[in-house]
Amino acid sequence: MSRTVHHDGPLIIGGGLAGLSAALEAGPRKTLVVTPAPLLQACSSAWAQGGVAAALSAGDAPALHAADTAAAGAGLVETGATEVLTGDGRATVEWLASLGAPFDRDAAGGFAVSLEAAHSRARVARVGGDGAGRAILSALIAAVRAAPHIEVWEDGRLRGLIRDASGRVRGVLIERGVPGSGRMVEVLAPAVVLATGGAGGLFARTTTPVALLGEGMALAYGAGAEILDPEFVQFHPTAIDVGLDPMPLATEALRGEGARLVDGGGRFLLGEAADADLQPRDVVARAVHAARADGGGAFLDCRTAIGDRLPEEFPAVFAACMRAGLDPRETPIPVAAAAHYHMGGIAAGPDGRTSLPGLFAVGECAATGVHGANRLASNSLLEAAAFGRRTGRAAALETSATGATLPVRTVPDLSPEALQTLRETMSRDVGVVRDAAGLAGALEVMARLEAAAPGALPLVAARLIAEAALARRESRGGHFRSDYPAAAPVAEHARLRAQLQAAKPSAPVERAA
Ligand code: SIN
Repeated sequence: MSRTVHHDGPLIIGGGLAGLSAALEAGPRKTLVVTPAPLLQACSSAWAQGGVAAALSAGDAPALHAADTAAAGAGLVETGATEVLTGDGRATVEWLASLGAPFDRDAAGGFAVSLEAAHSRARVARVGGDGAGRAILSALIAAVRAAPHIEVWEDGRLRGLIRDASGRVRGVLIERGVPGSGRMVEVLAPAVVLATGGAGGLFARTTTPVALLGEGMALAYGAGAEILDPEFVQFHPTAIDVGLDPMPLATEALRGEGARLVDGGGRFLLGEAADADLQPRDVVARAVHAARADGGGAFLDCRTAIGDRLPEEFPAVFAACMRAGLDPRETPIPVAAAAHYHMGGIAAGPDGRTSLPGLFAVGECAATGVHGANRLASNSLLEAAAFGRRTGRAAALETSATGATLPVRTVPDLSPEALQTLRETMSRDVGVVRDAAGLAGALEVMARLEAAAPGALPLVAARLIAEAALARRESRGGHFRSDYPAAAPVAEHARLRAQLQAAKPSAPVERAA
Protein backbone atom coordinates (compact mmCIF):
# COMPACT_ATOMS: atom_id res chain seq x y z
CA MET A 1 0.00 0.00 0.00
CA SER A 2 1.26 3.44 -0.79
CA ARG A 3 0.24 6.70 0.78
CA THR A 4 -0.66 9.69 -1.36
CA VAL A 5 0.76 13.19 -1.01
CA HIS A 6 -0.66 16.20 -2.87
CA HIS A 7 2.04 18.71 -3.75
CA ASP A 8 0.94 22.08 -5.10
CA GLY A 9 3.87 23.02 -7.31
CA PRO A 10 6.54 21.50 -9.54
CA LEU A 11 7.85 18.09 -8.58
CA ILE A 12 11.42 17.64 -9.76
CA ILE A 13 13.01 14.21 -9.98
CA GLY A 14 16.78 14.59 -9.88
CA GLY A 15 19.24 16.75 -8.01
CA GLY A 16 21.91 17.46 -10.61
CA LEU A 17 22.54 20.82 -12.25
CA ALA A 18 19.40 20.67 -14.40
CA GLY A 19 17.07 19.70 -11.56
CA LEU A 20 18.43 22.23 -9.10
CA SER A 21 18.44 25.06 -11.65
CA ALA A 22 14.79 24.27 -12.35
CA ALA A 23 13.98 24.21 -8.64
CA LEU A 24 15.58 27.57 -7.98
CA GLU A 25 13.74 29.24 -10.84
CA ALA A 26 10.38 27.65 -10.02
CA GLY A 27 10.02 29.90 -6.99
CA PRO A 28 8.01 31.29 -5.42
CA ARG A 29 5.97 28.20 -6.34
CA LYS A 30 6.43 25.50 -3.74
CA THR A 31 8.85 22.97 -5.25
CA LEU A 32 9.69 19.43 -4.22
CA VAL A 33 12.99 17.89 -5.35
CA VAL A 34 13.37 14.12 -5.03
CA THR A 35 16.75 12.40 -5.42
CA PRO A 36 17.81 8.82 -4.67
CA ALA A 37 20.94 9.95 -2.78
CA PRO A 38 22.12 12.99 -0.86
CA LEU A 39 22.67 16.01 -3.11
CA LEU A 40 26.10 16.05 -4.77
CA GLN A 41 26.18 12.23 -4.83
CA ALA A 42 25.28 10.06 -7.82
CA CYS A 43 24.74 12.79 -10.39
CA SER A 44 26.97 13.35 -13.38
CA SER A 45 27.04 17.14 -13.12
CA ALA A 46 29.15 16.96 -9.98
CA TRP A 47 31.76 14.96 -11.87
CA ALA A 48 32.08 17.30 -14.83
CA GLN A 49 35.68 18.36 -15.32
CA GLY A 50 35.25 20.60 -18.35
CA GLY A 51 33.17 23.66 -17.65
CA VAL A 52 30.39 25.77 -19.11
CA ALA A 53 30.66 26.65 -22.79
CA ALA A 54 29.50 30.20 -23.59
CA ALA A 55 30.49 33.06 -25.85
CA LEU A 56 32.25 35.15 -23.22
CA SER A 57 35.30 36.61 -24.91
CA ALA A 58 35.62 39.67 -27.15
CA GLY A 59 36.13 37.70 -30.38
CA ASP A 60 33.24 35.36 -29.75
CA ALA A 61 29.48 35.47 -30.30
CA PRO A 62 26.49 33.19 -29.68
CA ALA A 63 26.18 32.69 -33.45
CA LEU A 64 29.75 31.31 -33.62
CA HIS A 65 29.02 29.03 -30.68
CA ALA A 66 25.83 27.87 -32.42
CA ALA A 67 27.74 27.16 -35.63
CA ASP A 68 30.28 25.00 -33.76
CA THR A 69 27.44 23.19 -31.98
CA ALA A 70 25.76 22.46 -35.31
CA ALA A 71 28.99 21.27 -36.93
CA ALA A 72 29.70 18.85 -34.06
CA GLY A 73 26.12 17.55 -34.16
CA ALA A 74 26.60 16.10 -37.65
CA GLY A 75 23.50 17.47 -39.35
CA LEU A 76 20.97 16.74 -36.61
CA VAL A 77 21.18 19.84 -34.46
CA GLU A 78 17.96 21.81 -34.21
CA THR A 79 18.65 25.42 -35.05
CA GLY A 80 15.97 27.10 -32.93
CA ALA A 81 16.85 25.30 -29.70
CA THR A 82 20.55 25.87 -30.31
CA GLU A 83 20.06 29.60 -30.81
CA VAL A 84 18.20 29.71 -27.50
CA LEU A 85 20.98 27.75 -25.80
CA THR A 86 23.91 29.75 -27.10
CA GLY A 87 22.00 33.02 -26.66
CA ASP A 88 21.55 32.12 -22.99
CA GLY A 89 25.29 31.44 -22.55
CA ARG A 90 26.61 34.58 -20.90
CA ALA A 91 23.53 35.14 -18.72
CA THR A 92 23.74 31.53 -17.52
CA VAL A 93 27.40 31.78 -16.51
CA GLU A 94 26.69 35.10 -14.78
CA TRP A 95 23.71 33.55 -12.94
CA LEU A 96 25.84 30.64 -11.74
CA ALA A 97 28.56 33.08 -10.64
CA SER A 98 25.96 35.18 -8.80
CA LEU A 99 25.01 32.06 -6.83
CA GLY A 100 28.64 31.66 -5.80
CA ALA A 101 30.16 29.39 -8.47
CA PRO A 102 33.83 30.40 -8.27
CA PHE A 103 34.73 30.54 -11.96
CA ASP A 104 38.39 31.02 -12.87
CA ARG A 105 39.03 34.68 -13.71
CA ASP A 106 41.44 36.43 -16.04
CA ALA A 107 43.71 39.31 -15.04
CA ALA A 108 40.95 41.85 -15.77
CA GLY A 109 38.41 40.00 -13.59
CA GLY A 110 36.48 38.54 -16.55
CA PHE A 111 35.77 34.85 -16.99
CA ALA A 112 38.92 32.94 -17.98
CA VAL A 113 38.04 30.73 -20.93
CA SER A 114 39.82 27.74 -22.40
CA LEU A 115 39.72 25.81 -25.64
CA GLU A 116 38.18 22.38 -26.05
CA ALA A 117 37.83 20.14 -29.09
CA ALA A 118 35.71 21.34 -32.02
CA HIS A 119 35.24 24.84 -30.55
CA SER A 120 36.49 27.55 -32.90
CA ARG A 121 37.10 29.89 -29.97
CA ALA A 122 38.29 29.50 -26.39
CA ARG A 123 34.93 29.61 -24.59
CA VAL A 124 34.87 27.11 -21.75
CA ALA A 125 34.50 28.80 -18.37
CA ARG A 126 36.19 26.57 -15.83
CA VAL A 127 36.48 26.31 -12.07
CA GLY A 128 39.69 25.35 -10.30
CA GLY A 129 41.08 23.77 -13.47
CA ASP A 130 39.11 20.52 -13.68
CA GLY A 131 36.68 21.00 -10.78
CA ALA A 132 33.80 22.81 -12.51
CA GLY A 133 30.97 20.37 -11.88
CA ARG A 134 31.52 19.92 -8.17
CA ALA A 135 32.10 23.62 -7.48
CA ILE A 136 29.09 24.79 -9.49
CA LEU A 137 26.81 22.18 -7.99
CA SER A 138 27.99 22.99 -4.47
CA ALA A 139 27.04 26.63 -5.01
CA LEU A 140 23.60 25.62 -6.25
CA ILE A 141 23.07 23.22 -3.36
CA ALA A 142 23.77 26.02 -0.91
CA ALA A 143 21.22 28.20 -2.72
CA VAL A 144 18.66 25.37 -2.74
CA ARG A 145 19.11 24.70 0.97
CA ALA A 146 18.53 28.40 1.66
CA ALA A 147 15.49 28.73 -0.62
CA PRO A 148 12.27 28.76 1.41
CA HIS A 149 10.18 27.47 -1.52
CA ILE A 150 12.20 24.25 -1.99
CA GLU A 151 11.86 20.97 -0.08
CA VAL A 152 14.27 18.13 -0.84
CA TRP A 153 13.79 14.40 -0.27
CA GLU A 154 17.20 12.77 -0.54
CA ASP A 155 16.06 9.16 -0.26
CA GLY A 156 13.49 8.73 -3.02
CA ARG A 157 13.75 6.42 -6.04
CA LEU A 158 11.45 6.98 -8.97
CA ARG A 159 9.38 3.82 -9.49
CA GLY A 160 6.59 4.95 -11.79
CA LEU A 161 4.72 7.78 -13.46
CA ILE A 162 1.10 8.40 -12.54
CA ARG A 163 -1.20 9.28 -15.43
CA ASP A 164 -4.87 9.87 -15.92
CA ALA A 165 -7.13 8.59 -18.68
CA SER A 166 -6.47 11.69 -20.81
CA GLY A 167 -2.75 10.85 -20.93
CA ARG A 168 -1.71 13.68 -18.63
CA VAL A 169 1.10 12.91 -16.23
CA ARG A 170 -0.24 13.64 -12.76
CA GLY A 171 2.54 12.54 -10.44
CA VAL A 172 5.06 9.88 -9.58
CA LEU A 173 5.44 6.79 -7.47
CA ILE A 174 8.46 7.10 -5.20
CA GLU A 175 10.09 4.46 -3.07
CA ARG A 176 11.59 6.09 -0.03
CA GLY A 177 14.36 4.77 2.22
CA VAL A 178 16.49 1.71 1.62
CA PRO A 179 15.89 0.24 -1.87
CA GLY A 180 13.54 -2.70 -1.58
CA SER A 181 11.98 -1.37 1.62
CA GLY A 182 8.69 -0.99 -0.20
CA ARG A 183 7.94 2.39 1.43
CA MET A 184 5.96 3.68 -1.52
CA VAL A 185 4.61 7.23 -1.76
CA GLU A 186 2.42 8.53 -4.56
CA VAL A 187 3.12 12.22 -5.08
CA LEU A 188 0.55 14.09 -7.16
CA ALA A 189 1.61 17.44 -8.59
CA PRO A 190 0.64 19.88 -11.35
CA ALA A 191 3.97 19.34 -13.13
CA VAL A 192 6.49 16.50 -13.06
CA VAL A 193 10.01 17.44 -14.18
CA LEU A 194 12.30 14.53 -15.03
CA ALA A 195 15.93 15.52 -14.50
CA THR A 196 17.07 11.97 -13.98
CA GLY A 197 20.36 12.10 -15.89
CA GLY A 198 21.72 9.82 -18.56
CA ALA A 199 22.26 6.16 -19.20
CA GLY A 200 26.04 5.68 -18.86
CA GLY A 201 25.57 2.97 -16.22
CA LEU A 202 24.12 0.71 -18.90
CA PHE A 203 27.69 0.31 -20.18
CA ALA A 204 30.47 -1.63 -18.45
CA ARG A 205 32.89 1.14 -19.42
CA THR A 206 31.48 4.47 -18.33
CA THR A 207 32.66 7.76 -16.88
CA THR A 208 29.25 8.44 -15.27
CA PRO A 209 27.79 7.23 -11.98
CA VAL A 210 26.82 3.58 -12.48
CA ALA A 211 23.38 4.21 -10.99
CA LEU A 212 22.38 6.20 -14.09
CA LEU A 213 20.52 3.57 -16.11
CA GLY A 214 18.21 5.55 -18.37
CA GLU A 215 15.28 4.88 -16.08
CA GLY A 216 13.67 8.30 -16.59
CA MET A 217 13.69 7.77 -20.34
CA ALA A 218 12.31 4.24 -19.93
CA LEU A 219 9.45 5.41 -17.74
CA ALA A 220 8.60 8.32 -20.02
CA TYR A 221 8.63 5.94 -22.96
CA GLY A 222 6.31 3.56 -21.15
CA ALA A 223 3.95 6.45 -20.48
CA GLY A 224 3.86 7.24 -24.21
CA ALA A 225 6.28 10.17 -24.40
CA GLU A 226 8.19 10.69 -27.60
CA ILE A 227 11.76 9.48 -27.44
CA LEU A 228 14.28 11.06 -29.76
CA ASP A 229 17.55 9.67 -31.13
CA PRO A 230 18.25 7.13 -28.37
CA GLU A 231 21.06 5.54 -30.39
CA PHE A 232 23.26 8.60 -29.96
CA VAL A 233 25.60 7.92 -27.07
CA GLN A 234 28.81 9.87 -26.75
CA PHE A 235 31.92 7.90 -25.87
CA HIS A 236 34.69 9.88 -24.25
CA PRO A 237 38.10 8.93 -25.64
CA THR A 238 40.11 9.37 -22.47
CA ALA A 239 38.58 7.47 -19.59
CA ILE A 240 41.42 6.47 -17.27
CA ASP A 241 41.84 2.71 -17.51
CA VAL A 242 43.06 1.63 -14.09
CA GLY A 243 40.43 -1.01 -13.34
CA LEU A 244 37.89 1.28 -11.66
CA ASP A 245 34.11 1.25 -12.26
CA PRO A 246 33.10 3.90 -13.14
CA MET A 247 36.26 5.02 -14.88
CA PRO A 248 37.75 8.38 -13.83
CA LEU A 249 37.84 10.95 -16.62
CA ALA A 250 40.93 12.58 -18.06
CA THR A 251 39.42 15.84 -19.27
CA GLU A 252 39.76 16.88 -22.88
CA ALA A 253 41.30 20.11 -21.61
CA LEU A 254 44.51 18.13 -21.10
CA ARG A 255 44.68 17.74 -24.87
CA GLY A 256 43.76 21.41 -25.17
CA GLU A 257 46.94 22.06 -23.18
CA GLY A 258 48.99 19.86 -25.50
CA ALA A 259 48.85 16.38 -23.94
CA ARG A 260 49.11 13.76 -26.72
CA LEU A 261 47.51 10.42 -27.43
CA VAL A 262 50.07 7.72 -28.15
CA ASP A 263 50.17 3.96 -28.50
CA GLY A 264 52.27 1.60 -26.41
CA GLY A 265 55.28 2.34 -28.62
CA GLY A 266 54.93 6.10 -28.14
CA ARG A 267 53.59 6.72 -31.69
CA PHE A 268 50.94 9.42 -32.13
CA LEU A 269 47.51 7.81 -32.48
CA LEU A 270 46.04 10.53 -34.68
CA GLY A 271 49.11 11.90 -36.40
CA GLU A 272 51.73 14.49 -35.57
CA ALA A 273 49.81 17.72 -36.24
CA ALA A 274 49.54 19.82 -33.09
CA ASP A 275 45.72 19.83 -33.23
CA ALA A 276 45.29 16.21 -34.36
CA ASP A 277 44.04 15.08 -30.93
CA LEU A 278 41.44 17.85 -30.80
CA GLN A 279 39.28 16.42 -33.55
CA PRO A 280 35.63 15.69 -32.71
CA ARG A 281 35.18 13.37 -29.80
CA ASP A 282 33.76 10.48 -31.84
CA VAL A 283 36.79 10.50 -34.17
CA VAL A 284 39.21 10.44 -31.27
CA ALA A 285 37.18 7.79 -29.42
CA ARG A 286 37.32 5.47 -32.43
CA ALA A 287 41.08 5.94 -32.74
CA VAL A 288 41.53 5.00 -29.08
CA HIS A 289 39.15 2.05 -29.48
CA ALA A 290 41.04 0.81 -32.56
CA ALA A 291 44.45 1.15 -30.90
CA ARG A 292 43.28 -0.96 -27.98
CA ALA A 293 41.63 -3.52 -30.24
CA ASP A 294 44.93 -3.83 -32.17
CA GLY A 295 46.71 -4.64 -28.94
CA GLY A 296 48.95 -1.57 -29.08
CA GLY A 297 47.11 0.18 -26.25
CA ALA A 298 46.23 3.87 -25.94
CA PHE A 299 47.82 6.34 -23.57
CA LEU A 300 47.53 10.03 -22.81
CA ASP A 301 50.98 11.47 -22.45
CA CYS A 302 50.88 14.62 -20.31
CA ARG A 303 54.57 14.65 -19.45
CA THR A 304 56.02 17.20 -21.87
CA ALA A 305 53.12 19.62 -22.33
CA ILE A 306 51.89 19.80 -18.74
CA GLY A 307 54.24 17.84 -16.48
CA ASP A 308 54.65 19.48 -13.09
CA ARG A 309 51.64 21.78 -13.60
CA LEU A 310 49.32 18.75 -13.34
CA PRO A 311 48.68 18.76 -9.56
CA GLU A 312 47.67 22.42 -9.54
CA GLU A 313 45.91 22.77 -12.89
CA PHE A 314 44.22 19.37 -13.12
CA PRO A 315 43.85 18.28 -9.48
CA ALA A 316 41.01 15.78 -10.10
CA VAL A 317 42.88 13.94 -12.86
CA PHE A 318 46.11 14.02 -10.89
CA ALA A 319 44.41 12.64 -7.76
CA ALA A 320 42.63 9.87 -9.69
CA CYS A 321 45.91 8.74 -11.23
CA MET A 322 47.86 8.91 -7.98
CA ARG A 323 45.16 6.91 -6.17
CA ALA A 324 45.72 4.20 -8.76
CA GLY A 325 49.46 4.31 -8.14
CA LEU A 326 50.29 6.09 -11.39
CA ASP A 327 52.16 9.41 -11.49
CA PRO A 328 51.07 11.13 -14.72
CA ARG A 329 54.07 13.49 -14.50
CA GLU A 330 56.24 10.44 -15.15
CA THR A 331 54.06 7.87 -16.91
CA PRO A 332 51.55 8.14 -19.78
CA ILE A 333 47.99 7.49 -18.57
CA PRO A 334 46.32 4.32 -19.97
CA VAL A 335 43.01 5.35 -21.51
CA ALA A 336 39.93 3.75 -23.07
CA ALA A 337 36.81 5.07 -24.74
CA ALA A 338 33.85 4.94 -22.34
CA ALA A 339 30.18 5.93 -22.38
CA HIS A 340 30.04 9.53 -21.24
CA TYR A 341 26.85 11.27 -22.34
CA HIS A 342 23.48 10.37 -23.84
CA MET A 343 22.49 12.78 -26.59
CA GLY A 344 19.16 11.03 -27.15
CA GLY A 345 16.33 10.80 -24.68
CA ILE A 346 12.91 12.23 -23.98
CA ALA A 347 11.98 14.69 -26.73
CA ALA A 348 11.66 18.11 -25.06
CA GLY A 349 11.84 21.80 -25.88
CA PRO A 350 14.14 24.37 -24.25
CA ASP A 351 11.45 24.87 -21.60
CA GLY A 352 11.37 21.14 -20.89
CA ARG A 353 7.93 20.49 -22.35
CA THR A 354 7.55 16.93 -23.64
CA SER A 355 4.89 15.37 -25.83
CA LEU A 356 2.86 14.51 -22.69
CA PRO A 357 0.93 17.20 -20.79
CA GLY A 358 2.17 17.56 -17.24
CA LEU A 359 5.56 16.01 -18.03
CA PHE A 360 8.77 18.01 -18.44
CA ALA A 361 12.27 16.68 -19.08
CA VAL A 362 15.58 18.51 -18.77
CA GLY A 363 19.28 17.79 -18.68
CA GLU A 364 20.78 14.58 -19.96
CA CYS A 365 17.55 12.57 -19.90
CA ALA A 366 16.04 15.04 -22.38
CA ALA A 367 16.72 15.30 -26.10
CA THR A 368 16.24 18.94 -27.02
CA GLY A 369 18.02 18.71 -30.36
CA VAL A 370 20.96 20.89 -29.31
CA HIS A 371 23.44 18.02 -29.36
CA GLY A 372 22.27 16.27 -32.51
CA ALA A 373 24.39 13.20 -33.11
CA ASN A 374 27.39 14.45 -31.18
CA ARG A 375 27.56 16.89 -28.29
CA LEU A 376 30.06 19.72 -28.39
CA ALA A 377 32.31 19.65 -25.32
CA SER A 378 31.02 21.55 -22.27
CA ASN A 379 27.63 22.28 -23.82
CA SER A 380 26.00 19.90 -21.34
CA LEU A 381 26.49 22.02 -18.22
CA LEU A 382 25.27 25.03 -20.18
CA GLU A 383 22.20 23.14 -21.33
CA ALA A 384 21.50 21.79 -17.84
CA ALA A 385 21.57 25.24 -16.25
CA ALA A 386 20.07 27.32 -19.07
CA PHE A 387 17.24 24.95 -19.98
CA GLY A 388 16.88 23.98 -16.32
CA ARG A 389 16.01 27.59 -15.51
CA ARG A 390 13.56 27.80 -18.40
CA THR A 391 12.00 24.49 -17.38
CA GLY A 392 11.56 25.59 -13.77
CA ARG A 393 9.77 28.73 -14.87
CA ALA A 394 7.51 26.84 -17.30
CA ALA A 395 6.68 24.07 -14.81
CA ALA A 396 5.75 26.68 -12.20
CA LEU A 397 2.94 27.89 -14.46
CA GLU A 398 1.14 24.54 -14.46
CA THR A 399 -2.03 24.15 -12.44
CA SER A 400 -3.32 20.99 -10.79
CA ALA A 401 -5.59 18.69 -12.76
CA THR A 402 -8.50 16.95 -11.10
CA GLY A 403 -10.17 13.60 -11.56
CA ALA A 404 -9.15 9.98 -11.21
CA THR A 405 -5.67 8.69 -11.91
CA LEU A 406 -4.78 5.29 -13.34
CA PRO A 407 -3.15 2.68 -11.11
CA VAL A 408 0.65 2.53 -11.42
CA ARG A 409 2.23 -0.76 -12.28
CA THR A 410 5.72 -1.19 -10.88
CA VAL A 411 8.33 -3.31 -12.60
CA PRO A 412 10.98 -5.63 -11.16
CA ASP A 413 14.60 -4.63 -10.68
CA LEU A 414 17.36 -6.38 -12.57
CA SER A 415 19.50 -8.68 -10.47
CA PRO A 416 23.13 -7.48 -10.09
CA GLU A 417 24.27 -10.41 -12.27
CA ALA A 418 21.78 -9.56 -15.03
CA LEU A 419 22.78 -5.89 -14.89
CA GLN A 420 26.44 -6.83 -15.28
CA THR A 421 25.63 -9.02 -18.28
CA LEU A 422 23.68 -6.14 -19.79
CA ARG A 423 26.51 -3.68 -19.19
CA GLU A 424 29.12 -5.92 -20.77
CA THR A 425 26.84 -6.57 -23.73
CA MET A 426 26.23 -2.85 -24.23
CA SER A 427 29.92 -1.94 -24.14
CA ARG A 428 30.84 -4.77 -26.51
CA ASP A 429 27.98 -4.66 -29.02
CA VAL A 430 26.27 -1.27 -28.64
CA GLY A 431 29.47 0.70 -27.99
CA VAL A 432 31.97 2.74 -29.96
CA VAL A 433 31.78 0.48 -33.05
CA ARG A 434 28.50 -1.25 -33.90
CA ASP A 435 27.28 -3.59 -36.61
CA ALA A 436 24.07 -5.45 -37.41
CA ALA A 437 25.24 -8.81 -36.08
CA GLY A 438 26.44 -7.38 -32.78
CA LEU A 439 23.30 -5.31 -32.29
CA ALA A 440 21.03 -8.25 -33.08
CA GLY A 441 23.00 -10.38 -30.63
CA ALA A 442 22.67 -7.69 -27.96
CA LEU A 443 18.92 -7.60 -28.47
CA GLU A 444 18.79 -11.38 -28.01
CA VAL A 445 20.68 -11.09 -24.73
CA MET A 446 18.22 -8.41 -23.61
CA ALA A 447 15.25 -10.60 -24.53
CA ARG A 448 16.67 -13.43 -22.40
CA LEU A 449 17.23 -11.10 -19.46
CA GLU A 450 13.75 -9.70 -19.86
CA ALA A 451 12.22 -13.15 -19.35
CA ALA A 452 13.45 -13.03 -15.75
CA ALA A 453 12.67 -9.35 -15.13
CA PRO A 454 9.87 -8.27 -17.48
CA GLY A 455 9.85 -4.55 -18.07
CA ALA A 456 12.92 -3.83 -15.91
CA LEU A 457 13.71 -0.19 -16.66
CA PRO A 458 17.42 -0.59 -17.56
CA LEU A 459 16.39 -3.21 -20.12
CA VAL A 460 13.79 -0.91 -21.64
CA ALA A 461 16.38 1.87 -21.93
CA ALA A 462 19.03 -0.45 -23.36
CA ARG A 463 16.59 -1.87 -25.88
CA LEU A 464 15.60 1.62 -27.04
CA ILE A 465 19.27 2.40 -27.69
CA ALA A 466 20.06 -0.90 -29.42
CA GLU A 467 16.92 -1.01 -31.58
CA ALA A 468 17.47 2.54 -32.81
CA ALA A 469 21.15 1.77 -33.45
CA LEU A 470 20.12 -1.23 -35.54
CA ALA A 471 17.56 0.82 -37.46
CA ARG A 472 19.99 3.64 -38.25
CA ARG A 473 21.93 2.10 -41.12
CA GLU A 474 24.54 4.81 -41.42
CA SER A 475 27.31 6.33 -39.34
CA ARG A 476 26.76 9.74 -37.88
CA GLY A 477 28.32 11.52 -34.92
CA GLY A 478 28.58 9.22 -31.93
CA HIS A 479 26.83 6.37 -33.77
CA PHE A 480 29.31 4.37 -35.86
CA ARG A 481 28.30 1.28 -37.85
CA SER A 482 31.24 -0.67 -39.28
CA ASP A 483 28.78 -2.18 -41.79
CA TYR A 484 27.55 1.29 -42.84
CA PRO A 485 30.63 3.45 -42.27
CA ALA A 486 29.37 6.50 -44.22
CA ALA A 487 26.72 9.06 -43.33
CA ALA A 488 23.52 8.67 -45.32
CA PRO A 489 22.47 11.59 -47.53
CA VAL A 490 20.54 14.15 -45.53
CA ALA A 491 17.15 13.35 -47.11
CA GLU A 492 17.42 9.65 -46.42
CA HIS A 493 18.61 10.39 -42.94
CA ALA A 494 15.64 12.60 -42.19
CA ARG A 495 13.33 9.82 -43.32
CA LEU A 496 15.09 7.30 -41.11
CA ARG A 497 14.70 9.58 -38.16
CA ALA A 498 10.98 9.98 -38.69
CA GLN A 499 10.54 6.23 -38.97
CA LEU A 500 12.39 5.70 -35.73
CA GLN A 501 10.00 7.96 -33.90
CA ALA A 502 6.96 6.34 -35.45
CA ALA A 503 8.05 2.73 -35.14
CA LYS A 504 8.26 2.36 -31.40
CA PRO A 505 8.52 -1.23 -30.22
CA SER A 506 5.92 -2.56 -27.79
CA ALA A 507 6.26 -1.10 -24.31
CA PRO A 508 7.32 -3.68 -21.74
CA VAL A 509 6.51 -1.29 -18.93
CA GLU A 510 2.90 -1.65 -19.89
CA ARG A 511 3.10 -5.43 -20.06
CA ALA A 512 4.58 -5.83 -16.61
CA ALA A 513 2.53 -7.15 -13.77
C1 SIN B 1 35.86 16.82 -20.60
O1 SIN B 1 36.25 17.61 -19.77
O2 SIN B 1 36.61 16.22 -21.37
C2 SIN B 1 34.42 16.50 -20.66
C3 SIN B 1 33.65 17.72 -20.87
C4 SIN B 1 32.34 17.38 -21.45
O3 SIN B 1 31.96 16.23 -21.49
O4 SIN B 1 31.69 18.29 -21.96
